[in-house]
Amino acid sequence: MSTYTVEDPRKVTTRRLIEMKAKGEKIAMLTAYDYSMARLVDQAGMDVILVGDSASNVMAGNATTLPITLDQMIYHARSVVNGVKRALVVCDMPFGSYQGNPLEALASAVRIMKESSAEAVKIEGGREIIESVERILSAGIPVMGHLGLTPQSINKFGTYNVRAREEAEANKLIEDARLLQDAGCFAIVLEKIPADLAARIAGELTIPIIGIGAGGGCDGQVLVLQDMLGINQGFSPRFLRRYADLGNVIEDAVGNYINDVKSSDFPNEKEQY
Ligand code: KIV
Repeated sequence: MSTYTVEDPRKVTTRRLIEMKAKGEKIAMLTAYDYSMARLVDQAGMDVILVGDSASNVMAGNATTLPITLDQMIYHARSVVNGVKRALVVCDMPFGSYQGNPLEALASAVRIMKESSAEAVKIEGGREIIESVERILSAGIPVMGHLGLTPQSINKFGTYNVRAREEAEANKLIEDARLLQDAGCFAIVLEKIPADLAARIAGELTIPIIGIGAGGGCDGQVLVLQDMLGINQGFSPRFLRRYADLGNVIEDAVGNYINDVKSSDFPNEKEQY
C-alpha cells in the first residue's frame, strides 16, 4: 500500500501538469521500463512515468544511453503502458532517432506513439533540434524537452559534471528553454544544473520544469527508479536520495532461496501437488 493518497484519481494529462504548475502543486515523476514496476509505481500515485533511455544503463548494463534502439524503447514503453492506469507515460526518443532531420524525427515519434501507446515523447536539446520538435508537435504529439546535462551528448561533454555554471552556457540554456516553450512543449526536464538557474527558469516559464539534480525550485522532480530504490548500487551522486535498499533485500532473498534449494528445504509438502 502506498503511503501517498491520490487526491485526483483522473488520468494525468499534459494539460493537467500545466494546471498543477499554475496551482503550485509539485509534480512527481519516476522512470520505469517494465510492466511489473510500472504497475507498482502507478498504483503508488505517480503523476508521470518516464520510459527513459536510461534503460540502456540500468536494464541493459551499457555505459551510456547511446546504444539503445528505437525498437527497444518501443518494447519498454509498451510494457510500461500495459501496467499504467493513471500516470502520464512519456517515452524518450533514443539517440539517432531524431537528430537527422525533422521528418525522421516525426517518423520515430509516430512509431513510438502507434506501437507503444505512450502519451508523449521526450527529446534532448534546444535550438539545434527545434525544427524536429516543431514537426513532432505539428502531428499532435506532445513533447517534453530535456536541457542541461543531456546524456546522449556525453561524448561531446566528456563528463557527467554539473552543466551551465558559466554565464554563456546558462544564457543559452535560458534561451533554449524559452524556445521549447514557445514551440509548444508541455514541460522541460532540467538535468544537473545549478539550483538558482533552474529556479529562475521555472519562475519565468509557464510550463512545468522537472528537475533531476536541479534543486528544489523546480515544479517537479524525476529520479531513475533503480537508483532511488537502491538496486543500481554503484551510483550515488549528491542529488540522489535513496528511498529503499532493494539491492540488499533482493540479494538476501535470492541467497535464502539458494540455501533452501540446496538444503532440500524448498519445496516442502505444502508447496507441492
Ligand atoms: O533517461 C532518463 O532516465 C532521463 C531522466 C534522467 C530524466 O532522461
